[in-house]
This record gives sequence, structure tokens and C-alpha cells, in this order.
Amino acid sequence: MPDMTKRVKGFSKLSKAAKIDWLVDKYFAGDGSKAGFLKSYWHADENIQKRHDEFIENTLSNYYMPFGVAPNFVIDGKDYCIPFAIEESSVVAAAAKAASYWAERGGFRTEVLATRKTGHVHFTWNADVQKIRTFFYEVKEKLLRDTDDLTENMRKRGGGIIDIELIDKTKEEEDYYQLKGIFETKDAMGANFINSILERFSQIWKEEASKSAIFSQEEKESLMIIMCILSNYTPDCVVRAEVKCTVDRLYNGWNDLTAEVFAEKFKQAVRIAEIEPYRATTHNKGIMNGIDAVVIATGNDFRAIEACAHGYAAKDGRYRALTHCTIEDGMFRFWIEIPLALGTVGGITSLHPMVRFSLDLLGQPNAKELMGIIAASGLAQNFGAIASLVTTGIQKGHMKMHLMNIMNQLECTEEEKMKIIEHFKTDTVSVSAVTRVFNELRS
Ligand code: MEV
Repeated sequence: MPDMTKRVKGFSKLSKAAKIDWLVDKYFAGDGSKAGFLKSYWHADENIQKRHDEFIENTLSNYYMPFGVAPNFVIDGKDYCIPFAIEESSVVAAAAKAASYWAERGGFRTEVLATRKTGHVHFTWNADVQKIRTFFYEVKEKLLRDTDDLTENMRKRGGGIIDIELIDKTKEEEDYYQLKGIFETKDAMGANFINSILERFSQIWKEEASKSAIFSQEEKESLMIIMCILSNYTPDCVVRAEVKCTVDRLYNGWNDLTAEVFAEKFKQAVRIAEIEPYRATTHNKGIMNGIDAVVIATGNDFRAIEACAHGYAAKDGRYRALTHCTIEDGMFRFWIEIPLALGTVGGITSLHPMVRFSLDLLGQPNAKELMGIIAASGLAQNFGAIASLVTTGIQKGHMKMHLMNIMNQLECTEEEKMKIIEHFKTDTVSVSAVTRVFNELRS
């Protein structure tokens, strides 16, 4: 019987060509044009393509994302042109507009509040808590010392293990404890560093426990290491970015509201996102537009950044805005406080050619500088979104940027595009309005 299923054994061991053949055969009824399509996205330089192939398993091709820049960012007195890797039409435009606006008002000020990261050995142990505490203080030194080989390079760069704590979680879950490692990873994101150390901790913990005279045989046998893993929640790796100016300087580039009314509406919009989770989620999504795009362009892990940002937004038990705004004594302040565990060395930072380009463009920032740059980008994005929301509404700018996508969907010629763009300089963009104008042009 021929195998009619679409299951396969040993797929990862096939050559790239054989993988594509298999896929085309099983999922595209042998249509060779699908293979050609995938290959058309290969890089012309074989070495560069190989580099991309080797980032993950089962690579078949590349997936393009637009790479754009938002110039005119002034951050801590320095000019930046920030790289964005993102597909959403209006994000770069909004960031660039907000950057220029604030460049004329002193720019963004940033401050890294802390840079510590944590990870845990999660274990269960049916033993007396006092005995576990005593044991912990006995082996703590060994945990630090016997990881020397793993921490040597990081210590040379000024990082390493800051501390180890024993955390008793038995009130929440029977027999559940943690060894909590606290780390400084300097310019590396540090995931591999932290995870390797945690796994070593768990070995030492288990070995020492089995030899310890503190525990009965039964207690020794009840120790079970559940898992060792860094935490992507990094409330102690936090950056703050702020813009401020006197309210009278806040005339807006969005419409003709007075500076006072604009400031008041803006502040109220932020307040709504602080107290209303439905709005906070969208508000923070807009912030992450400006954050993820730069995180991706600089080769960092946007899933980790996202997970952490939302955990932090809910840190006081309710999901809230990550930005805040005050108007006091005529001074408008708008700021973000966000955990950003980033790296400028390690990972793919020196391997991905576009990442290398992005970091060069930013002047080879260290991790702290990058935290400031990315926080400023998130703040700019949020400023742009709120400024539009409380004045013209979001659709005007968004649909203007989306116009190109609509025209491309309609397969407009370049000439038709020019005519349609001209038409929508005055009219409101919508899919139906663009389709109507397109049909009129074609008829
Ligand atoms: C769209 O990607 C993001 C916004 O919805 C953010 C916001 O509403 O603040 C415009």
C-alpha cells in the first residue's frame, strides 16, 4: 500500500532540495512552480543563504519583511536613525513623525533603572523546610564556586551570578521550592548563559543532597528537580524613557486643537489606558509596534520582550498601560517604563547581516543604550497613536499608508497608482472607495 498520509520520518535529515520536493509532492500535488517560488526567495549569495538556512531547522526559503528607518530621533542628546522590521503600513511613518516632533522639544531622555535577570531551578521536596534552608546555606558557596568555568567570561565583562536565593513556594503548592538565580549578563541577552548555570545548579543540588547528613533516606529520595529555566519576566531589567515640554509648546502637528486642549485630551487618553484593560491592551499593542520592530531589526527575541511587557503591565494584579502622562505646573510629561532584556552581543547579533547593519546604523550601542533606544521608539509610537486618536482619528493616517496595499491587491499599474494617490490626497481612503476609483479608471 502506498503511504497516503502526509506524515514523514527523518525529514530534518533530508537535503533542502529533497525537503522542497517532498513538500511540493505532498501538499501541492507535484506543482513544480511552488518549488520555483520558494527558490525565488533565496539570497543570490550562497554563503548568505547558507547562514540563514542554518539559523533554524528545516529552512526552505526566506520570509521577507520590510526594513525601514525612522530618522530624526534625538535620544539623550544623540541623533539616531532607527531601523524597523515590520509589515504594518503606518508604524514607521508614525514613529518618524513623533521623532521629528520631539526632536524640536528636547528629544527623548532615557534612564536604565536596573539590568538584572533571573532564572529558577524548580523542584519539589518532601522534607522539613528548616532542613532545606540549612542545607541551602551549606551548599550556596559550592553552587557559586562550581559554576566558575561557566561564568568566567561573563565575570571578565563585569557580569555573572549576583546571588542565589531559596524560595519556599509551599503555601501555593505542596512541596514546591525554587532556587532563584539572579544574574547580570551585561551586553548579552544571556539566555544560554543563565540556563547553563541553572542546569549546573540542579546537578550540584541533587548530588549534594544525596550526600548530606541533614536528610533521611526518604527525604533524599523525595527531591525531584522539575525544571531549570530562565525567567522572561524581568521586572529588574527596566528602562524609562521620557519626553517633556511646557504645555504651550505642545501645539500639535495633527490638527488645530489648542495646545491646552490637546494636552488634556492626551492625558485623559493615557489615563483611560491606565484604568481600562480593554483600552490598555490596544494602547500597549501600539507601544509594541514601535518596540518589536526594532527588537527584530536588532536581532533580539521579540517573543520574550512581548511576554515580559505584558507580564509587567499586569504587575499590580490588573492589566494597565505601560506609558503614563502628567501635566503639572504647566509641564507636560509623557513616559514609558518597561522591562527590556536585550542583547547586543551573542545570539544572532553578529551572524545576521541585516542585524549587523542595524547595529552599525545605531552606532554599535551596548545593551543599556539599546534599551533606551527601543523604549524611546515605543514611546514615540504611542505618542503618535494617541496624538492621532485624540485629534483626526487613527484611520486618516493609517488608511493613507494602507492605500498602497489596497492598490497592490487590485493589481493596479504604476500609472493607475499615481492617479489613485492623487485622487485620495483629498478624499477619504477606504477599500470600497479605492475600488470604485480603480473601476472608473479601468472602464
Ligand atoms: C495599531 O496597530 C495600533 C493602535 O491601535 C494603537 C492605539 O490605539 O493606541 C493605533
